[in-house]
Amino acid sequence: MFSKYRKPSDASAKPKGDNVTSMPTKSEAPKPQADAPKASMRKPMPAKPALAGPADKDRKRKERMGELKLELHRQLLDNLNLAALENASESDLKAEIADISSEFLGDRGVVLNREDRTTLIRELYHEVKGLGPLEPLLQDESVNDILVNGPQQVFVERAGKLELSDITFKDEKHLMRIIDKIVSAVGRRVDESNPYVDARLADGSRFNAMVPPIAVDGSLVSIRKFKKDKLGIDDLVKFGAFTEEMAAYLQAAVACRLNVIVSGGTGSGKTTTLNALSSFISNNERILTIEDTAELQLQQTHVGRMESRPPNVEGKGEVSPRDCLKNALRMRPDRIIVGETRGEEVIDMLQAMNTGHDGSMTTIHANSARDGVSRLENMIAMAGIEMPMKAVRSQISSAVNLIVQASRLQDGSRRMTSITEITGMEGDVISMQEVFRFQRVGLTPDNRIIGHFTATGVRSHYAERFRLWGYDLPPSLFEPFAAE
Ligand SMILES: Nc1ncnc2c1ncn2[C@@H]1O[C@H](COP(=O)(O)OP(=O)(O)OP(=O)(O)O)[C@@H](O)[C@H]1O
Ligand SMILES: [Mg+2]
Repeated sequence: MFSKYRKPSDASAKPKGDNVTSMPTKSEAPKPQADAPKASMRKPMPAKPALAGPADKDRKRKERMGELKLELHRQLLDNLNLAALENASESDLKAEIADISSEFLGDRGVVLNREDRTTLIRELYHEVKGLGPLEPLLQDESVNDILVNGPQQVFVERAGKLELSDITFKDEKHLMRIIDKIVSAVGRRVDESNPYVDARLADGSRFNAMVPPIAVDGSLVSIRKFKKDKLGIDDLVKFGAFTEEMAAYLQAAVACRLNVIVSGGTGSGKTTTLNALSSFISNNERILTIEDTAELQLQQTHVGRMESRPPNVEGKGEVSPRDCLKNALRMRPDRIIVGETRGEEVIDMLQAMNTGHDGSMTTIHANSARDGVSRLENMIAMAGIEMPMKAVRSQISSAVNLIVQASRLQDGSRRMTSITEITGMEGDVISMQEVFRFQRVGLTPDNRIIGHFTATGVRSHYAERFRLWGYDLPPSLFEPFAAE
C-alpha cells in the first residue's frame, strides 16, 4: 500500500545472509593503561574504567542493533524511491520504514521488543530524512557543540566540557553522505576539489566541514548549535563569567557609546558576550548587524541583520563582510555590530567607529588586549593600506575605546578575563589600562580553577563621560578585591 515510496524493482531487497560481520564499535576503544610510568614528576593521566560485566550485555545488544540497522538502512536505500520521499509525511515514512523493517526482520526470524523496534524505526527515519547519527545530538538541548573527527569519533560539548559521545558513523562513506545532505540542502557542495565548506543550517546552527584528502583521517565536522535563548548578562553573571560590578561598568560603557571590541580565542564566548552587551543598547537606536553566519539575537525593535555570502562553486556571487559594511554605512545606522572582524573590513569598521557610528562593536581573534591591537594592525597591513605605523595606531587608538577579553579556561569555564581601556597614544605606542581582571590563584584537586575577579584600582579613563551621561559609577566599583 505504500508502493509510491518504493522503487519499482525489489531485486536487491533479498537478505544477504544471517551473519552480519562485526564492525568497529566504541567498545573497541583503546584499553585503559594499567601500568603507570615509574616514579615521575608528572601527574598520572586519568585512566578509563574497564568495561564492567553487566554493561557487556548491553553493549552486545547495542552492537546487534547497530548491525541490524546498517543492513536495514542499506535495504531501505535500495528499496525506497528517494525522490518520492521528499514530500512524504513523517507518519507515512515511518509506516513505510516499519513495513520494510518487519519484512526484513521476519525473513531473518529476528524478534525485537517494542522499545528496540521503536528505536530502530526512529534511527532509520533519522537516517533517511534527517542527519543520521547526528540527529539525536542536534535535538539534545544540553549539547552546545558537535565535533566529528572521522567516522568513529564524535565529541560533544556539554556545560563547557568536551566529552566523547557513543555516536559513530558506519564508515567514511556514511559520514560523507550526511555531510553531503547538509551542504546540498543549503545549496553548497563539498568534494575533493572543494574540500571544505562553512554554512548555516536551517535551524541557525553553524556548520563547518572539511573532507579528505585535506582531512587526513576522515572528514572533520564542527557544528555550533544555535541556541534559541542566548545567555544574557544575568546568566553570565550567575555562571561566573564576570561580576555585577563589571556588568554595571559594561552597561555604562555601552550606553555611553564607547566602541567595544570583544577579543578571544575560538569558542571562548565572544559572540555570546557581544550579544549580551548589545542588550545595553537603548531600544530607540537603529542597529545594523553584519555576520558571516547570523548568530546574534538582538532584543531591540529597530534591527537590520545582514549575512555575508561566500562565492559559489564557480567563484561568483560573493558578498563580503566589507561589502555589507560599506553598504550599511549608507543605511543610516546608529550603531553597527560586526560579528567578527578578520579581514579588510577592519578599515571600514575603524572608520565607522571614528565617524559618527560610535557605540559600535565587533569581535576579533586574539589572546589579550595588546595582542588584539596587533591583530588590528596586521589586518590593516594585510588589506594593503600603505600607512605609516604611527598613523595606523592613532587610527586604532581613536576608534577603539574598550577591549573585553573572553577566555575559555582549562577547566572549560568561560570568563571575561580582562577589561581594558584604550586611553590614547604615548609617542608611537597605544596606551591602555586594565580596569578589571580575573586573578587566578590556583587549581582544585579536580582541576577546577580557583580565582576571583578584581578591579585593578585605576580610575576609569571614561569616568567623566559616564558621569555626564548619567552613569555615575561609585568609586568603590574600581577598588581592588580585598580578601577577607
Ligand atoms: N560564560 C559562559 N558560560 C557557559 N557557556 C558559555 C559562556 N559563554 C559562551 N558559552 C557557550 O559557549 C559556546 C561558544 O560560545 P560563542 O559562540 O559565544 O563563542 P565564540 O568565541 O563566538 O566562538 P567562535 O570563535 O567559534 O565564533 C556557546 O555554545 C555558548 O552558549
Ligand atoms: Mg563567534
